[in-house]
Amino acid sequence: ASARIAVTGLAVMGSNLARNLARHGYRVAVHNRSHARTKALISEHGHEGDFVPAETLEELVGSLQTPRQIIIMVKAGGPTDAVIDELVPLLEPGDMVIDGGNAHYADTRRREAALKEVGLLFVGAGISGGEEGALNGPSIMPGGPKESYEHLGPVLEDIAAKVDGVPCCVHVGPDGAGHFVKMVHNGIEYADMQLIAEAYDLLHRVGGMTPADVAEVFRGWNSGDLESYLVEITAEVLGHVDAETGAALVDVIADEAEQKGTGRWTVQEALELGVPVTGIAEAVFARSLSGRAGQRQAVREAFGPAEVAGGADESLVEDVRQALYASKVVAYAQGFDQMRAASAEYGWDLDLGAMATIWRGGCIIRARFLDRIREAYDKAPELPSLLVDDYFRDAVRSAEAAWRRVVVKAVTAGVPAPGFVSALAYYDGLRSERLPASLIQGLRDFFGAHTYRRTDREGSFHTLWSGDRSQVDA
Ligand code: 6PG
Repeated sequence: ASARIAVTGLAVMGSNLARNLARHGYRVAVHNRSHARTKALISEHGHEGDFVPAETLEELVGSLQTPRQIIIMVKAGGPTDAVIDELVPLLEPGDMVIDGGNAHYADTRRREAALKEVGLLFVGAGISGGEEGALNGPSIMPGGPKESYEHLGPVLEDIAAKVDGVPCCVHVGPDGAGHFVKMVHNGIEYADMQLIAEAYDLLHRVGGMTPADVAEVFRGWNSGDLESYLVEITAEVLGHVDAETGAALVDVIADEAEQKGTGRWTVQEALELGVPVTGIAEAVFARSLSGRAGQRQAVREAFGPAEVAGGADESLVEDVRQALYASKVVAYAQGFDQMRAASAEYGWDLDLGAMATIWRGGCIIRARFLDRIREAYDKAPELPSLLVDDYFRDAVRSAEAAWRRVVVKAVTAGVPAPGFVSALAYYDGLRSERLPASLIQGLRDFFGAHTYRRTDREGSFHTLWSGDRSQVDA
């Protein structure tokens, strides 16, 4: 019999996804540019299921049932295009090409449009969960034409993570919607990690706690509202001791955070859409700042290191927990806002509650409170902001005093907490009765006759600043 589905690109993510498919009883054709890797997969894991190794893409295509389903798991960008170009002439109308990499959604839109021309269905599918997830159940965010999901959906749902029996996979929307949603997932992942890092830094530097102490704190937090994969593994990383030096590993790891680009894309796209994803942006910039070694050294030498005014009181741990929770709500509110804006812009009709549902398991940002986000959007699909949902409003309100204390403490102590600070500013910005944007409009009108609107009547106005300063209709 021929294979049900194929995977090309057998680096860790690709191999693990192929193994996951095979373990679920699918006959899976596998291919890699260098055949050695295919052979290695078969020799190490061939016993796990029914694999059909292929030496060439022709062979891979030839081994598949129709309509064919080929998952590409290669590097985003040029390498993905190269595989698509090679595949297309080998396929027939109705066949499906699925890109499971971290592609930019604009590339996905372009590819889908191009493949549609030749009768092929192109599906950009975000896959989250790292190596472990790919093998044991990732969160899958497939976009592309709805009809592709008829054949593909059941297979993907089968291999996806499940929460309460519900698969963490849904047809996200047409064209680039899947990769867009995965991109925002990663943006939230950046923000979440930055907030966690700031919480650690405050407890460590202001609170004087050791990494091992903070590990215990995170372990405790993981059984409350903050329960999530990232909080869980924070305890693991902080608790780990370097075998060579006997020091906490976190004190041995170079403090320059790297990035492959999905967080940056999230911010770039948010700028285009005009959506303030300040927490995600701060997280991206905090990574960039950490990497500016020369600049850090120069400024440190010029000013001396920040003198941390410590002084922990008993309430610090609980305050930081609440600040972390409230800031995290803001980060998610911003990410969901961005998805809502993109959905309107591109006509994707995204179901935000469904996005929260498929992020409950399998992915890196899986967390208990995604259930609450799902409920919020199920109740009110048009929610203007996650912050106004009853549950989150109450949660943020009750955390507010602690959140402010933590921000004050960080600022006073000289410990950078851009995530906490900007999340609080976002919240205060949205709830201010009046913003000084009015002054900005006035200044724009002064130097560039850019006009302003008034609060008391319709129309656009300009003040004759260099004349008699009377107001004219613009
Ligand atoms: C996931 C992760 C995954 C990944 C990114 C992040 O959802 O499984 O988001 O896509 O770890 O590559 O990478 P950077 O931090 O290097 O940008």
